[in-house]
Amino acid sequence: MSEPLKIAVAGLGTVGAGLVRLISERSEDLEIRAGRAIEITAVSARDRTAERGIDIAPYAWHDDPLHLAVLDDIDVVVELIGGSDGIAKTLTEAAFENGKHVVTANKALVAHHGLGLAHKAEAAGVSFSYEAAVAGGIPIIKSLREGLAGNSLHRVYGILNGTCNYILTAMSEQGREFEDVLAECQKLGYAEADPSFDIDGIDAAHKLAILASVAFGGEVNFDAVHVEGIRHISPMDMQFAEELGYRIKLLGIASIRADGLEQRVHPCMVPVDTPIAHVSGSLNAVVADGDFVGTIVQEGPGAGAGPTASAVAADIIDIARGLRVPTFGVPAGQLKAIAPVPMQRHTGAYYIRLMVVDKPGVLADITAVLRDHAVSMESVLQRTRDPGEPVPVVMTVHEAEEASMTGALEEIAAIGAIVETPRMIRIESL
Ligand code: HSE
Repeated sequence: MSEPLKIAVAGLGTVGAGLVRLISERSEDLEIRAGRAIEITAVSARDRTAERGIDIAPYAWHDDPLHLAVLDDIDVVVELIGGSDGIAKTLTEAAFENGKHVVTANKALVAHHGLGLAHKAEAAGVSFSYEAAVAGGIPIIKSLREGLAGNSLHRVYGILNGTCNYILTAMSEQGREFEDVLAECQKLGYAEADPSFDIDGIDAAHKLAILASVAFGGEVNFDAVHVEGIRHISPMDMQFAEELGYRIKLLGIASIRADGLEQRVHPCMVPVDTPIAHVSGSLNAVVADGDFVGTIVQEGPGAGAGPTASAVAADIIDIARGLRVPTFGVPAGQLKAIAPVPMQRHTGAYYIRLMVVDKPGVLADITAVLRDHAVSMESVLQRTRDPGEPVPVVMTVHEAEEASMTGALEEIAAIGAIVETPRMIRIESL
């Protein structure tokens, strides 16, 4: 057998502790699978004495995570600190400078700095691996980069944030309010330290930008992702979605069009008979469309100690086996700068909910605005009213350009009888 692969772990939170447990509990199997022993040698975290449910006594302790990058007996630095900049980035760059491979679960780091870091890893002749950064336990990076390498992919999309999916599922199945379910999610530990990363769609956008790069061989372009979260989704919209034959999901969708790359994260109404409509709770799912393979769907846990440690371990095993694949599937210098398609050029169908004062002529005013913006109505629903209370008017419209739809909604919002900001949710036929 070859020399053991020696690892340093920076960050001993939920994922770090899960990784330590996995490597110590499964050391014999890992050695057989990798062809050499995998040993944790050194660790670093904020607090040496914190209770983690693991024994860290066998490992050399370093207060400063940057020390891990310069240790002679380390082959791989596992970065589980998090954050797009600061210590995580400094440590990763220092590890490359010292000829060490880096494995990370840090989606923000890869989404913001993936291209530059891929160049640095290549120049140093080491791996930069991040399976755990996207969809937790689902091996989607390996699937896209290796399993589907023979295909030209034209679309990749999915449920990329477990917290949002948990909230939307509970709102839909139990009729609960957004804030109430968010509090439960935080107790369960799914949510990011700053939950706005989850509920405002940023976490899903990080993951989508990475997926798009690997799927289409393009430079990671997080800034080009159109991002909307789920704060404005109400139980009323959930009920109307159900009546219309849809479920509401926060999707990340990246697709290649004739004019470039569209990347968007926002709540979507998806037909109830599609697989993605049935991905519930904190699960994630990713769908990829390729020219030879057709459509593949993968579903599984997207967060948590076990699933994320499983993905980190897979990257470590690849390194131990000597498997080297370019960071984003093609050499960094050959990643394409694909033109981003602005959201205003998106075309699709829409659901609109308006709260209106129920009086003669209101519907005529609304439909006149839609006509003026060349938006064609598909259906309209109006609920009975409690005397004096505004009533919901729900419309679905046929495929229209986003620019027309947003223009129409701005004008509709200015009609005197409309009492709340109009709600718009895009309908995805998938
Ligand atoms: N906060 C993330 C989620 C976990 O809810 O999916 C891992 O990215």
